[in-house]
Amino acid sequence: MVASGRVALVTGGGSGMGEATSHRLAREGMAVGVLDIDSAAAERVAAAIRESGGRAIAVTADISVRREVKAAIDAVRDAFGPIAILINNAAIESFTAIEEIDEDSWDRLMSVNLKGAYIVIQTVLADMTAAGWGRIVNVSAIGAQSGATHMAHYTAAKGGLIAMTKSLAIELGARGITVNSVSPGFILTPMSQRAIDANLFPVPAEQIYGAYPIPRLGRPEEIAAACAYLVSDDAGYVTGQVLAVNGGAYV
Ligand SMILES: NC(=O)c1ccc[n+]([C@@H]2O[C@H](COP(=O)([O-])OP(=O)(O)OC[C@H]3O[C@@H](n4cnc5c(N)ncnc54)[C@H](O)[C@@H]3O)[C@@H](O)[C@H]2O)c1
Repeated sequence: MVASGRVALVTGGGSGMGEATSHRLAREGMAVGVLDIDSAAAERVAAAIRESGGRAIAVTADISVRREVKAAIDAVRDAFGPIAILINNAAIESFTAIEEIDEDSWDRLMSVNLKGAYIVIQTVLADMTAAGWGRIVNVSAIGAQSGATHMAHYTAAKGGLIAMTKSLAIELGARGITVNSVSPGFILTPMSQRAIDANLFPVPAEQIYGAYPIPRLGRPEEIAAACAYLVSDDAGYVTGQVLAVNGGAYV
């Protein structure tokens, strides 16, 4: 089903959903560039993939810094060849009341969560255009669809990512490049665990996910599975879509 043998880049591949997606794509036969701002995390994931017989390289970059992204992507190309698949997954989150979101925090959320995706897309696009085949998956968030208290900056960036997904799907379709978004609900990862531990949600976490039609937390592997479908040859006629993996929390 999946585009085996191709080269994939997963941003934020050192943790959570990016880690699960890196493993999944490697198991499907892709060579994976595991990109993260945290070098040790990226190296740990790439090494685990290699130990289980897959092909992976760790690269370090802050996705909001173009020269770092370019150097990292050049290293992936040198190791494996042109990039055919991009999972734009890296992001940061913040829970802050609207009165207290300062401009530095607003700008950082936009820089990483929205501008970062644009920079990475621009940096890999020539490879996909030359091949006449490409897959881009932008990981957004349920909060962009439903809204989320104390997350105006985060959800604004993720909503922008969904809008960018639709525009690029239209712009790039004739080149053989699909652009979709996976929108996770409440998934158990280091990011959400930090928020649970710090009591950042308006009510206890169990009350939130316990009320979902599927009353449990999601698993990173369930996001990886959605990404694996969207980057497959089977999904060649699917573009501009938001595939929500959220236990029915927002329908
Ligand atoms: N966990 C959830 O419940 C949830 C819900 C909705 C959406 N999401 C989204 O899913 C994606 C994955 O989240 P996760 O829960 O796996 O998070 P995570 O914090 O476990 O992993 C994110 C990874 O991104 C990396 N990263 C952060 N800033 C970066 C930067 N500037 N450049 C490069 N790498 C950077 C981190 O080092 C980390 O390894 C994110 O886009 C997040 O916004 C998560």
